Amino acid sequence: MKTDWFVLLGRSAHGFVYFLCSYETVNMRLSFIKLEAIILLILGLAGLLFIIYGGEDRTEPSSVHKEEHKPTIQSLLTVVPPKVKKLEWLPGCQENKSVESIVDFSKLPEHIKDFLRYRHCRSFPQILNAPDKCGGPAASKNVFLLLAIKSSPGNYERRAVIRQTWGEETSYKGAHVKRIFLSGTSKNEREDRHLRHLLQIESQTYGDILQWDFHDTFFNLTLKQFLFHVWLDDNCPGANYIFNGDDDVFVNTFNVITYLQSNEPDKHLFVGQLIANVGPIREAGSKYYVPVQVTASDSYPMYCGGGGILMSKYTAHVIYNNSHDIQLFPIDDVYLGMCLAKSKLVPASHMGMRTVGVHVPSAKLDSFNPCYYRELLMVHRFIPYQMLVMWKAIQDPHLDCGQKLAIYLGT
Ligand SMILES: *[C@@H]1O[C@H](CO)[C@@H](O)[C@H](O)[C@H]1NC(C)=O
Ligand SMILES: *[C@@H]1O[C@H](CO)[C@@H](O)[C@H](O)[C@H]1NC(C)=O
Ligand SMILES: *[C@@H]1O[C@H](CO)[C@@H](O)[C@H](O)[C@H]1NC(C)=O
Repeated sequence: MKTDWFVLLGRSAHGFVYFLCSYETVNMRLSFIKLEAIILLILGLAGLLFIIYGGEDRTEPSSVHKEEHKPTIQSLLTVVPPKVKKLEWLPGCQENKSVESIVDFSKLPEHIKDFLRYRHCRSFPQILNAPDKCGGPAASKNVFLLLAIKSSPGNYERRAVIRQTWGEETSYKGAHVKRIFLSGTSKNEREDRHLRHLLQIESQTYGDILQWDFHDTFFNLTLKQFLFHVWLDDNCPGANYIFNGDDDVFVNTFNVITYLQSNEPDKHLFVGQLIANVGPIREAGSKYYVPVQVTASDSYPMYCGGGGILMSKYTAHVIYNNSHDIQLFPIDDVYLGMCLAKSKLVPASHMGMRTVGVHVPSAKLDSFNPCYYRELLMVHRFIPYQMLVMWKAIQDPHLDCGQKLAIYLGT
């Protein structure tokens, strides 16, 4: 009989420390194996405790020593891993303890409690920046379209395919397109370390990452939107138009540019899939659940589905300007609607923006038919390979669509 035990633990602010314990035995009595197992377990736990409490934020001589003998992961990655911030919150932004006194606060789901505790916090350190994305504030007027894509740190494949397809930084008949991904951090501590590293590599390679030090969760998307407007105002205020959307949409960049060229950047423009006459969902199980403790109002202003929105420079500035006076709201697209409403601006619908996807008239027809997408501006929910296939297909000069196909709005 041969038994191997193998314990592998990794953590370090500067890379990985591996603890490797193996145990071999040949024809041993069972009780002895049990004793050994217990000893091993204790050693493992002691190791774990050391890792958790001993190795933090200090240059432990022993761990420094280990790093020198560590295999080549550092040498493979030429970038220096970012420092992991220990602070959960900025010293300047403390938890609001008064929220505990809100009626039935204790009964709310954890993420909503969290939202209420930190709702007032808007300033977060930026981990990765791209200040020259638009050539500096003054030259940024030469950018025709800035693609600002919300992307969680783990969505590497989506970013990769967007870079090669509709998000390519290029010029279409003199209209310059720039691309930026908006990201926070992972909630999972270990994953966070790896993903910060990943984003740093992407940032160095493509220069298209903005990352802030807050958890990239659904209820923090408004924070991401707000911080993007702050960045835009500082670094790229002249960009004529902004596409603001998710990393799982397919954008027909050609059509978007043609459409925008018939508009004026200094006038109001805010188009997408219009949503009107709706209010907060009060069912606790929903992803969109917003209890009365967050908003007492039973209606939302008109807004556009957050999957993809086109706005002019003028409107982006108004949103930025108004956002300072509007309390953060957990649903980002509704929040944008609130910012518009403050200036009495209305969002508009565009037939070519499908945040709920395309519905074909008959089950016999393939909804993945490039003829549908050739006519549209944007469609929600594409997986990476579909983006690549569709991007090539809509540009195929031999694509024969025959008579115009009717496109039906999804429900
Ligand atoms: C803290 O929460 C209370 C109760 O909701 C609220 O009235 C107050 O404005 C909050 N304070 C800050 C700084 O947001
Ligand atoms: C937003 O991000 C902060 C900072 O990382 C985090 O502590 C908080 O839990 C997040 N809020 C929500 C509602 O996820
Ligand atoms: C910005 O907001 C202030 C007050 O909230 C308002 O007076 C001003 O006109 C706004 N500017 C723009 C460009 O919207």
